[in-house]
Amino acid sequence: MEQKQSLKILVVSAEVVPFAKSGGLADVAGSLPQVLAAKGNDVRIVMPRYREITQEMHYITDFPVQMDWRRETCIIRRSQIGCNSKGETKEIPVYFVDSYHYFDREGMYCHLDDGERFAFFCKAVLHMLPKINFQPDVIHCNDWHTGPITFLLKHKFKTDPFYKNIATVFTIHNLQYQGNYSKDILKVFDIDESYFNPEQLEFYGRFSFIKTGILYADVINAVSETYAKEIQTPEFGELLDGVLRKRSKDLYGIVNGIGAEQFNPNSDPMIYKNYDVNHIELKKDNKHGLQKEAGLPLKDVPLIGLVHRLVEQKGLDLIIDVFDELMNFDVQFVVLGLGDLYYERMFKKLQEKYPDKVAAFFEFNEALAHKIYAGADIFLMPSRFEPCGLGQLISLKYGTIPIVRAVGGLVDTIQDFNLGTATGNGFVFEEYSPEAFFQAVKRCLSIYNDRKDLWDNLVKSALTSDYSWDKQAEKYIHLFRLATEKNKLKIFQESCKI
Ligand code: GLC
Repeated sequence: MEQKQSLKILVVSAEVVPFAKSGGLADVAGSLPQVLAAKGNDVRIVMPRYREITQEMHYITDFPVQMDWRRETCIIRRSQIGCNSKGETKEIPVYFVDSYHYFDREGMYCHLDDGERFAFFCKAVLHMLPKINFQPDVIHCNDWHTGPITFLLKHKFKTDPFYKNIATVFTIHNLQYQGNYSKDILKVFDIDESYFNPEQLEFYGRFSFIKTGILYADVINAVSETYAKEIQTPEFGELLDGVLRKRSKDLYGIVNGIGAEQFNPNSDPMIYKNYDVNHIELKKDNKHGLQKEAGLPLKDVPLIGLVHRLVEQKGLDLIIDVFDELMNFDVQFVVLGLGDLYYERMFKKLQEKYPDKVAAFFEFNEALAHKIYAGADIFLMPSRFEPCGLGQLISLKYGTIPIVRAVGGLVDTIQDFNLGTATGNGFVFEEYSPEAFFQAVKRCLSIYNDRKDLWDNLVKSALTSDYSWDKQAEKYIHLFRLATEKNKLKIFQESCKI
């Protein structure tokens, strides 16, 4: 078989597990590189250095970055993530873009100057490369914070031979977060005003980080096939569907994987009792552990779990709408998440109303999240939209059956349970309505309560399902190669244009 050359890959992300996380982006940016590296590629990661990051790191270099009329010093530091490759432990370098001015503050996002902060990050990433002596074949940009790297590379750095052959892939984890800022940011990027038109960088009167990524990357990727299709429609396109349709030839969808070691009920040190497909009865110990920790009665009733950012996207209003009806059933409900105060208050009220049935935790707590994945029987994900979704994959891995809405990555990963054929790995509903959602919940509860044989089979087949990164990482490698080919072709075309 032909031995393909390994790739040099720079993964750029605003958040990376285990250093900083607000959502699934961090999980992907922390786990995909490990599998890419295990397959023999030279992978490096770069992210901002937020104040909250506590891991040890080393100073590498510093340099000034021109920000309009000012210069801000960028300090590059380095840490690493370990990865297992054929029994050996390898280290993936993680570089941090540090700036006392932009990043040494409370909280990762939601500062008034976020546009400028991430403009600094984009510029610093490109300036860093020769200084750390790393010339990647491809830069993998993730979400809006990194979009302008694609443009800067192609329009501002291309005359420098160091950058000429570097290709870009832009992955959209969530089109709703766009990074749209006032036109003034052009000065910070030192981009000529002539680019500020609807065909290029302008987006409803503002400069859009995400539109820039979509327009100038060699290849674009969304985190599932269905989401890649959906975002080309007005319903899911967040006003960018036209731009995405224009680039549809270069738009792909690769479903995320999850870290096989990070989420393994058989070895997970965070859960109450390890178990596997041959010992599903031990799942009950996890349920009891969770009930104790959550202050709920120790009972063998269906335990419904929810671990999400508490935001509108997640379809929480459907759950709240049917909550009283749900409480007519003998069930328990545990929610863990942080987000909009509105949802926190709603769940807090429900906890007060049903203290024997509901427990709510408003915090970021990885260990408790694992305990819920392991201890719950049912996991809710009635999302309004869902680019990929990791919760349903993790819950399957722990033998916890998901109830999901048929959108985005949920369509690509969850098949509705069919009572006739006893096939499927979850419960799926289509219409975004409390009735449709509750119908799915009732179907699920009736199998749990009345058909123990079928339920146990569902749990067993969930426990043996494979949503690890291995196959998906191969697809990314193909995409990276495709991006380098496209970049070469563009360079060739430009070199002989008349
Ligand atoms: C975002 C999306 C989620 C996806 C994750 C990782 O958090 O909302 O659906 O799984 O990014 O790609």
